[in-house]
Amino acid sequence: MTTTTAAGTLTLGDKTFNRLGYGTMQLPGSGVWGPSADPENARRVLAKAVDLGINFFDTADAYGPFTSNLLMRDTFAPYQGNYKNIFISTKVGQTRQGPNLWTPDGRPDYLRQQVELNLRTLGVDSIDLLFLHRIDPKIPLEDQLGELKKMQDEGKIKHLGLSQVKIPELQAAEKIAHTDAVQNLYNVTDRSDEDVLDYAEQHKIVFVPWFPLATGKLANEGSVLKKIADKYQASPAQIALAWLLKRSPMMLPIPGTANLDHLAQNVAATAIKLSDNDFQAIANLK
Ligand SMILES: NC(=O)c1ccc[n+]([C@@H]2O[C@H](COP(=O)([O-])OP(=O)(O)OC[C@H]3O[C@@H](n4cnc5c(N)ncnc54)[C@H](OP(=O)(O)O)[C@@H]3O)[C@@H](O)[C@H]2O)c1
Repeated sequence: MTTTTAAGTLTLGDKTFNRLGYGTMQLPGSGVWGPSADPENARRVLAKAVDLGINFFDTADAYGPFTSNLLMRDTFAPYQGNYKNIFISTKVGQTRQGPNLWTPDGRPDYLRQQVELNLRTLGVDSIDLLFLHRIDPKIPLEDQLGELKKMQDEGKIKHLGLSQVKIPELQAAEKIAHTDAVQNLYNVTDRSDEDVLDYAEQHKIVFVPWFPLATGKLANEGSVLKKIADKYQASPAQIALAWLLKRSPMMLPIPGTANLDHLAQNVAATAIKLSDNDFQAIANLK
């Protein structure tokens, strides 16, 4: 059985995690809204991910809201045995108005409430990594990050991260609190944040690319990666992930799936070693 260990590891604080994680956004109902269509399957997928060596899980209060967190708590709490060393990243700073609707809200009181609700719904005493889901343009950054820094000092958050940010925002943030991870849209066919990735690599910031499979477009049979995938007797999804893993040692893809076979396939991608030529050929597809 192939496990994630082939991709190597990254470390934050006292926890080390394999360099392929799992994103929980496919688990709530359609439009990332409401309960899972099949909660039993969702819990099976989470448990299977751990069996396959995944120990980094990305979630957010806004997924459902709270559907993904509660599924994680149901599956993993009290975080003993196999589940003892799970590393959880979650996010605050977005409100939900319905399926596929998201609105940033960075009021400090709201952020504090959401950190507390993340702790409660995940069933943990402290959050390993807390992302500000979006910087709210209506609120000064020092108020948003300042509140999260206070909660870090209170021991409720271990590490802080920012999502969908540019380099000047990272530089401004560093004056308020240290950023340990960035989570930005990045995949083979959307590399508009190449400079942010390079900056993250230079500063040893973990880079978590969201939509690593371009929401499935890179994974299907019509994928631009199909030809190279055939050469490696792999699936296009696996090549998309293998390319990300080779692109940077700070890269931590978190493909999302509610399908057990896809999960196993994504994990097996960590064992694929692309040649330098194929890596470049894929880079040129952009
Ligand atoms: N920070 C942010 O603002 C932000 C925004 C979006 C997402 N995220 C995070 O990023 C994670 C990943 O994003 P995502 O799940 O939306 O998109 P994704 O990983 O790019 O793609 C997920 C889609 O690909 C399909 N898929 C997965 N593995 C496959 C495989 N091996 N073969 C064929 N199809 C496959 C899934 O369907 P099946 O269920 O059928 O496998 C699903 O439709 C999320 O779970 C979330 O944690 C963060």
